[in-house]
Amino acid sequence: MDYLPIFLDVRGKKVVVDGGTTVAARRIERALSAGALVHCFDPEPGEEVRAFLGHENLVHHERLAVEADFEGALVVWGASEEPKRDALLHAAAKKHGALANVADEKDYCDFITPSVVEREPLTIAITTGGAAPVVARILRARVEAMLPAAYGRLANFLSGYRDRIAGKIKGGTARRRFWENMIEGAVGDAFLAGDEALAARLIEQDLAGDDNALRQGEVWLVGAGPGDPDLLTFKALRMMQHADVVLYDRLVGPGILDLVRRDAERINVGKQAGNHVMTQDETTALIIKLAKAGKRVLRLKGGDPFIFGRGGEELEDVAAHGIPVIVVPGITAAAGCGASAGIPLTHRDHAQAVAFVTAHGKDGLLPHDWVRLARHDQTVVVYMGLRFVAEIAAAAMAQGVPGEMPIAVVDNGTRTTQRVVVGTLADIGEKVRTAKLKGPALILIGTVVTMRGLLGVEGATVEAAHEMELMAREGL
Ligand SMILES: C[S@@+](CC[C@H](N)C(=O)[O-])C[C@H]1O[C@@H](n2cnc3c(N)ncnc32)[C@H](O)[C@@H]1O
Repeated sequence: MDYLPIFLDVRGKKVVVDGGTTVAARRIERALSAGALVHCFDPEPGEEVRAFLGHENLVHHERLAVEADFEGALVVWGASEEPKRDALLHAAAKKHGALANVADEKDYCDFITPSVVEREPLTIAITTGGAAPVVARILRARVEAMLPAAYGRLANFLSGYRDRIAGKIKGGTARRRFWENMIEGAVGDAFLAGDEALAARLIEQDLAGDDNALRQGEVWLVGAGPGDPDLLTFKALRMMQHADVVLYDRLVGPGILDLVRRDAERINVGKQAGNHVMTQDETTALIIKLAKAGKRVLRLKGGDPFIFGRGGEELEDVAAHGIPVIVVPGITAAAGCGASAGIPLTHRDHAQAVAFVTAHGKDGLLPHDWVRLARHDQTVVVYMGLRFVAEIAAAAMAQGVPGEMPIAVVDNGTRTTQRVVVGTLADIGEKVRTAKLKGPALILIGTVVTMRGLLGVEGATVEAAHEMELMAREGL
């Protein structure tokens, strides 16, 4: 993070806006709505600035600003689009200790003016740190569209209950849960639907009830998908926002962890081949201990929890202790990698079935029947096989699968670092060795692999194609 996000109290404080442009008008509007005393300098302001003249908190100076005009200002905005005025403003702001911002002049900015969504008293500020203001504006439009106008009134309405709730429900965690249940449950629904009286009655009922349920622990086994944060489900995201503690492994990327509630405790239980941070038994024991202590424990897993994710084992152990468990599916690596590498898992001309297999079990490489698996009408997806690609190919050929059978290895699928190596059983071992893939990687075997070129994301173009897709998603 390059900038410190804070909201300044400017009520009754001096704010200078230099210029009479449309940008100046927006700055004046924002400063006045925050209660500042605004001084605007411009000999001939435009229509939009003129519209504010006469406001009791605005002093318009029909001239250019001089250095002394900036004395005592907390914030100064340059919006004249005249380089000489900007330079004077910046120097004067420095001299008088004011925070300066000049539109489109990064060197003259102590702070960023963010895109803002207002739902009084709720304010959401969005910035890209100056990197791509258009992205912030597009995002703002999206937030505007998805946030009902009544949210601001809901915040005001609920603020009337703060003291009573604090008096009735002791303990920060239980109190937070009470608020979340209210806002995301029947109370919030009633209020946003316009029935304030019903919302008030429901709060009274909640306040009269016993608060034991708020102190019970739960376990949520949640799939985080293959790596691209956009592939999280809405439900996973919601639970990540409500968990007290999150246990994650190395398949869950930092972009996803950033979406976890800030105050939630995060525990890395990740395992790397041969480098166990925590054993499975230790992880399960910790989950149970935290849930018994009344926590909402989110076990965040790469891909889907029930596909080679030990979700089944954890569910069994946790449920045996009488702890409520919720399972939330995620996009498994096969689906994610197939889509982002341009390889369909089924196709009427190629494969009518898909088999998901793991390369190795508890005791090393598994002795799969490759002739049965890699038959002409089936795609085989091999998880956890990167280290054994050459051995798998050799075993399949030794059993009688033709050496020209197409095979692809998708490394870091769906992530910006995705790489795809395509070959045949006969040459894939050497190609993968040369490519020095880092993993996690998924192996796809079958003639569907030949579809990849047809979809226009082949060879060296794959990273570019993925980047273009990411940019398109971000609205660039
Ligand atoms: C322990 S398994 C977990 C699978 C996960 N539960 C799922 O549904 O995708 C780990 C294996 O999943 C595959 N994998 C997971 N994420 C991947 C990714 N982003 N790209 C390629 N393979 C991935 C690799 O084969 C890795 O060795």
